[in-house]
Amino acid sequence: MSSERGRDAGPERIGNATYGLSWEEPLLFERSRPGRVGYSIPEADVPLAEPESVFEAGFLRDDLPALPELSEVDVVRHFTRISTWNAAVDLALYPLGSCTMKYNPKINEWAARLPGFASIHPLQPAGTAQGVLELCWRLEQALAEISGMDRVSMQPAAGAQGELTGIMMVRAYHEHRGDARNIVLVPDSAHGTNPASAALNDYRVVTIPSGRDGILHPEAVAKVMTPDVAALMVTNPNTLGLFETHIAEICDIVHAHGGLVYGDGANLNALLGIARPGDLGIDVMHFNLHKTFSTPHGGGGPGSGPVGVKNILAPYLPVPMVRKRAGSEGEGFALDYEFPHSIGRVHANFGNVGMLVRAWAYLRSLGPEGLRLCAEMAVLNANYLLARLRGAWHVPIDRPVMHECVLSDKQLEPFGITTLDVAKRLIDYGYHPPTVYFPLIVHGSIMIEPTESESLEGLDRFADAMLAIAEEARSDPEHVRTAPHRTRLARLDETRAARHPVLRWQPES
Ligand SMILES: Cc1ncc(COP(=O)(O)O)c(C=O)c1O
Repeated sequence: MSSERGRDAGPERIGNATYGLSWEEPLLFERSRPGRVGYSIPEADVPLAEPESVFEAGFLRDDLPALPELSEVDVVRHFTRISTWNAAVDLALYPLGSCTMKYNPKINEWAARLPGFASIHPLQPAGTAQGVLELCWRLEQALAEISGMDRVSMQPAAGAQGELTGIMMVRAYHEHRGDARNIVLVPDSAHGTNPASAALNDYRVVTIPSGRDGILHPEAVAKVMTPDVAALMVTNPNTLGLFETHIAEICDIVHAHGGLVYGDGANLNALLGIARPGDLGIDVMHFNLHKTFSTPHGGGGPGSGPVGVKNILAPYLPVPMVRKRAGSEGEGFALDYEFPHSIGRVHANFGNVGMLVRAWAYLRSLGPEGLRLCAEMAVLNANYLLARLRGAWHVPIDRPVMHECVLSDKQLEPFGITTLDVAKRLIDYGYHPPTVYFPLIVHGSIMIEPTESESLEGLDRFADAMLAIAEEARSDPEHVRTAPHRTRLARLDETRAARHPVLRWQPES
């Protein structure tokens, strides 16, 4: 244990005496005491049924699991204590680039917990679920308006699944036209899910190099564009935080060869109310509601990655969609399965509906002006951080950015400090580390996305921490190399992890 760990974050400082916190948090099993319970229910006033009369033979077990026996207060304190060990967007800036860890307003949670939304059964007849269907329909209209798409399916549960669904529609479109194509183009700056979605649809992925300025150039696309190309997948702003300024021309090139353009909308936060992917030539795209539209994420979900399409791809949408009744049908909303060329269902029921409610609440509370302000503030904040860090930090492609900026560890190399060390040291300063070593095209990249949620003081605190670490790297590199020092656990031996047979698994060639 280093001296800093003992001095600043030991039991003394955390307040062992006051809160009963300690370095060790026993498992619930270890806290268990025979006969202790966390519930109280009245005595039954009817005869108890014998289990054998209720359950079929074979479903009853003698070897009951030894579940922990605890009082309510034991359980609440245990989980409250360990919840304070987490980094959270409710505690501090969460600079994870490409993840848009913006603050999730609590009113969204209130809306999602309204009994009419939270208690609805997914198989309830549409006639008794009009409110939720209307919300889904209205959300579809709003996302279509924001993105310039014609229709939007709410089913995919993540950005990656939205991509998979989008490329399935691309495949269905070409196959329906009898046009066999086998290639998807992906820039070298893309998120790994892009080539993965293409490969899962049995496409060969051809990588296009970005220019020295970090963006995609029409000539590079034209060079690899052939009648075999089904689609180009492009992220805009890209994963370097740069706007793809040639996007309209690039879309024209792809379309001229009969291909389609998939827009990875994970970074839509930078464009809200300013530019619409559909107007720039994108045919199909996904949204990350759990990023741009302020629904909570991290820890594996649930997420929501609706996929939007232009009309040419609408026949292939997953079913059901929500339809507003009209004319002789009367009023209200219905589930629509009339998509004869549909790729089928990609999620049970109607997707992660709780996320749709949160996103709708967010959209409604901001309105069009508020959404535009989000994008403007997100871009301003990223450029402000870049301006404060430039000089002390190496900026591989030094141009005005959109929603995020990318630094590298190049200037720290002479002191033996790497991006990983910086990430660990930031934890000591109270921050979740930024995205590291991505995008892959920047050696030792550190990708920071502050989002619009941060105040000027919040940004300054983070910039001060980054500047302090750059200084420490020079004056006391060992201290940075052995960080974190203020956490409950010291640094994992990642060199050992890297030798682990499972982590070293390589696909067979
Ligand atoms: C650019 C980009 N595309 C796609 C994804 C995939 O989204 P999800 O994590 O929701 O599957 C991400 C996620 O970080 C991303 O940053």
